[in-house]
Amino acid sequence: MSERLAVVVGVTGGIAAYKAVSVVRELVLAGHDVHVIATEQALRFVGRPTLEAISRNPVRTDLFEDVAEVRHVRMGQTADVVVIAPATANTIAKLAAGLADDLLGSTVLASRAPLVLAPAMHTEMWQHPATVANVALLRERGVAFVGPESGRLTGEDAGPGRMSEPADIVAAAIAAAGPRDLAGVRVVVSAGGTREPIDPVRYIGNRSSGRQGIELAVAARDRGAEVTLVAAHLELPAPSGVRLVAAGTAEELRAAMLAAAAEADVVVMAAAVADYRTRDVSPTKIKKDAQGDRLDLALVRNPDILAELTAARRPGQVYIGFAAETEPDGEALVALGRAKAARKGVDLLVLNRVGWDEGFGAESPNRVLVLDAAGSVRGEASGSKSHVAGRVLDAVQTVRNRSK
Ligand code: CTP
Repeated sequence: MSERLAVVVGVTGGIAAYKAVSVVRELVLAGHDVHVIATEQALRFVGRPTLEAISRNPVRTDLFEDVAEVRHVRMGQTADVVVIAPATANTIAKLAAGLADDLLGSTVLASRAPLVLAPAMHTEMWQHPATVANVALLRERGVAFVGPESGRLTGEDAGPGRMSEPADIVAAAIAAAGPRDLAGVRVVVSAGGTREPIDPVRYIGNRSSGRQGIELAVAARDRGAEVTLVAAHLELPAPSGVRLVAAGTAEELRAAMLAAAAEADVVVMAAAVADYRTRDVSPTKIKKDAQGDRLDLALVRNPDILAELTAARRPGQVYIGFAAETEPDGEALVALGRAKAARKGVDLLVLNRVGWDEGFGAESPNRVLVLDAAGSVRGEASGSKSHVAGRVLDAVQTVRNRSK
């Protein structure tokens, strides 16, 4: 999700508090406004200056600091989400009982924002009937839990109780804060770039990192969608909480998309599909000595997957295509997009300009135009690929609402 959220991060007293620094850092890097409330015990594990420098805001501990500001009420009321990482057994017990004997407890009670807890404790404590009952009670009240994971604990021991990884905690916090306007909607996203084999060790590929498709899958997941990600050689790890289907070549991607789209409400074709594949794949490695100075590869056209998908569309389905063009002139670019939207039969076409330095790559920002089926410009977005993903889904919602 792309909007700037006010996030209260509660840090309580456990060894995993050092990992809270990464939680705060990832939230700040994603553009959110982060306010840390640390308990006295937490500050025995991780220093206030660290949390202040990373969050770029003062770290609060004490209910009796700046009392005139009624801080707990203000922080609780303005938060879009409250996430407590690590949440110790003691904190969970206090929250279950509704205790407000410190700033964190008071803030939670004063807040109506979603609450996300990332427990961290020893296995015995996590499995103790008191903790089990407290967790059940909090879940009943709508509190979201992320983890704990099973794994190595502080000492030599291992088992459930290890705090989840910071990226998963951040994802859970953002998901809890976001609109759930795609709840129950089945979204299929293709991402990455296909590779067409030449021989067992070589292929024809492209420079797609898969980042834009991944961000679309993440954004849809965070808005409540059931997401299937059809992945062709992603350069980045696939996100959690989505169904992953691997597809290496255009033919594999076609088969995976035809199967997944049959069950989908929204189909996003963000993968870069090779337009051609080698006619003959050598079963053995091509050797220079046998080949000589010249190698000719015969290529044949791959099917147009998106056109095939839209030709088989069911009523109510929404199809989104992507077009990456190198055309420098703005009007000519839109004209190319308009023709492509018609040729592919999509409801929306996300058009962006690519070059040697633009568009591709994991981190580069994106500037896109969103065209409708008739080729009219319906929106424009620039910024991070996660921001672009959010705007594309907004356009999807507009189409869905129109066809209701
Ligand atoms: N696409 C597809 N199957 C192909 C090629 C492309 O489904 N064989 C999809 C892409 O995933 C994208 C859209 O079609 O959503 C446009 O891709 P693009 O490569 O821009 O279009 P092409 O049809 O290949 O046209 P061009 O001649 O401009 O390459």
